[in-house]
Amino acid sequence: MSAIAIKADELNFNYKNFNALANISFELEAGKLLALLGHNGAGKSTLIKLILGLMAPTSGQLNVFGEAPYLRRQRGALRIGYLPENVSFYDNMSGEDVLRYLAKLKGVGATRVNELLVEFQLDYAKSRPVRTYSKGMRQRLGLAQALLEQPNLLLLDEPTVGLDPLASAFLYDKVGQLTRAGCAVVICTHELSLIEPRLDQALIIGQGQMLAAGSLSTLRRHNQLPVRLHPLEVDIDGVTRVLQQPQFAALQPYWHGQYLQLPHAMDESLMSAMAQVSAHIVWREGELSLSDMFYHFMAKLPRFDDTAGLEIHACNR
Ligand SMILES: Nc1ncnc2c1ncn2[C@@H]1O[C@H](COP(=O)(O)OP(=O)(O)O)[C@@H](O)[C@H]1O
Ligand SMILES: [Mg+2]
Repeated sequence: MSAIAIKADELNFNYKNFNALANISFELEAGKLLALLGHNGAGKSTLIKLILGLMAPTSGQLNVFGEAPYLRRQRGALRIGYLPENVSFYDNMSGEDVLRYLAKLKGVGATRVNELLVEFQLDYAKSRPVRTYSKGMRQRLGLAQALLEQPNLLLLDEPTVGLDPLASAFLYDKVGQLTRAGCAVVICTHELSLIEPRLDQALIIGQGQMLAAGSLSTLRRHNQLPVRLHPLEVDIDGVTRVLQQPQFAALQPYWHGQYLQLPHAMDESLMSAMAQVSAHIVWREGELSLSDMFYHFMAKLPRFDDTAGLEIHACNR
């Protein structure tokens, strides 16, 4: 059995009296990739900071390799790679000096710095000030610094924002190499179609609540999801006429390209009405994409303010 990198049970976190995360439970094994998804202000970065041990949960259990990260950080024993959202460096330092400086803080030798400069294709620019680096080079430097200690858990907070497709692909390829080598990775991202083929698990949060968790196939089995069906060998106009019957209005069926989309599992009475149009309807089920599922879960949330917590925080001062 694989080692468990992260285990969260009924995790809650409050910023003062604002509940930023509520009852979050999930598990991530070593060598697997977890995509942490949610709207702006959902609580993704807050969860990352809890995993990093920068803050302690208000209630619930959080273990990273079997120990509470907050306590482990206090002992100085936590080895987690972290690329923060909007990473910034001392811009007048060279890429090499940035890595050397951080390596020293972490007790890592110069050989590792040289290795990373080559691996992240920064060797040619290592003596140039970071302010001359492109966005892609900065993110490569950001990932390189996260890997100085050869961590077995890596946390990436929106790592591909503003990157061109080639730079994103470079970053994701590196992530693939790391997971294959046994590193557990958590990525917050809004690039759903890019992350979909790469993730092992997704955790979708909205307004601090866990909306769905698991592999793509587990998410697709969620019983509240819409169903997408493609009728083969059938008179489409006949199907459309059936759908227009008033008793099916509540199902709000609509055509999504060649697929008929219905809110839940196929309705019995609709099936029999369809069978009258054509005796042998063969339905091919269409798979919902990660982005279809994301929109579905988000659509269920009430209207919200992305910065709700910060406003409460400011009001309390
Ligand atoms: N330091 C803080 N003090 C108070 N509220 C905060 C703080 N940081 C974040 N929040 C609030 O917590 C919620 C989740 O924020 P965050 O975890 O940054 O979301 P995400 O990363 O998903 O965009 C938001 O409502 C935000 O306003
Ligand atoms: Mg964030």
